[in-house]
Amino acid sequence: MSTKVAIVADRVGWEERQLISAAPDLGLEIDWVNDESLCLGDAKAPSIDGYDALLIRSRSYTRGGLLATLAESKGVAVLNSASAIHACENKLVLRAVLDAAGVPVPDFRLVLSRKDFDKALDDLGLPVVLKPVYGGMGKRVTLIRDSDLAHSVYDYVEDLGHAFEQACLMEPYLGGGSIRCLVVGEQIVAAAEFESAGADWRSNAALGNQSRALADDSEVQKVVDGVVDQLGAGIYGVDLFKTPSGYLVNEVNHAPAWRGVASTTGVDIPSAVARHVQEILA
Ligand SMILES: Nc1ncnc2c1ncn2[C@@H]1O[C@H](COP(=O)(O)OP(=O)(O)O)[C@@H](O)[C@H]1O
Ligand SMILES: [Mg+2]
Repeated sequence: MSTKVAIVADRVGWEERQLISAAPDLGLEIDWVNDESLCLGDAKAPSIDGYDALLIRSRSYTRGGLLATLAESKGVAVLNSASAIHACENKLVLRAVLDAAGVPVPDFRLVLSRKDFDKALDDLGLPVVLKPVYGGMGKRVTLIRDSDLAHSVYDYVEDLGHAFEQACLMEPYLGGGSIRCLVVGEQIVAAAEFESAGADWRSNAALGNQSRALADDSEVQKVVDGVVDQLGAGIYGVDLFKTPSGYLVNEVNHAPAWRGVASTTGVDIPSAVARHVQEILA
């Protein structure tokens, strides 16, 4: 009998489609379950009854962690773990966890007010990057090269409706490229270096960019091992910056896109995910 997995997500994207179409050959039965229709809380919630595992792929910054927490508490196997999702959903929490464990992260300041903003600018000097604590897909990540612009940018932040949206990190600008390591289980299964290309300065995997496969690198391995030690085995997109003083972990995506690394490296990601699911359930 094949293993039944529910992909819990807001929509079926490229990665989810790849998993669903590869499933029969991998000994899995995979359905998409809309993350806004689970109504969890009941120990026998019909929406997830009968599944051996839930693969949480919500792109929202709040749904994944909430759903994983509740499903885990009812004894359902959940990937990634609720604690890993919670840590990754919040850029500041993740950096605090990694930093405390000695995993290198960028220098940054928490900006909750204009006072913080001014002080952080003084501390870090231009150019800086301002980004939301709760964010994704590169949205609102702002490169500030020019002090004339800096204060006007903060006007827009201040006008956002909610303190949740206003909370930002400021950090030094660390160059035009980044490295995406796709981790499945405890291993890096694919890694690529992304350069920003075209009109956008960001090299986010979701924004479209140029990339090349990254050869095995013991320094990268060490940093990623440090991340996995903290979060536990899982499916992660670990984003690194390469700096003169070594690799720094920018962020970890808990429902990573992998179209970019898959097409750059040719790695069969669905097989790796299927192996990981079977290992968890064994
Ligand atoms: N400090 C930084 N220095 C240089 N580029 C950055 C910095 N922070 C973010 N970027 C660029 O912006 C992109 C999006 O930022 P990121 O921190 O990954 O937020 P998101 O969660 O929106 O993906 C990154 O992939 C990178 O290209
Ligand atoms: Mg990112």
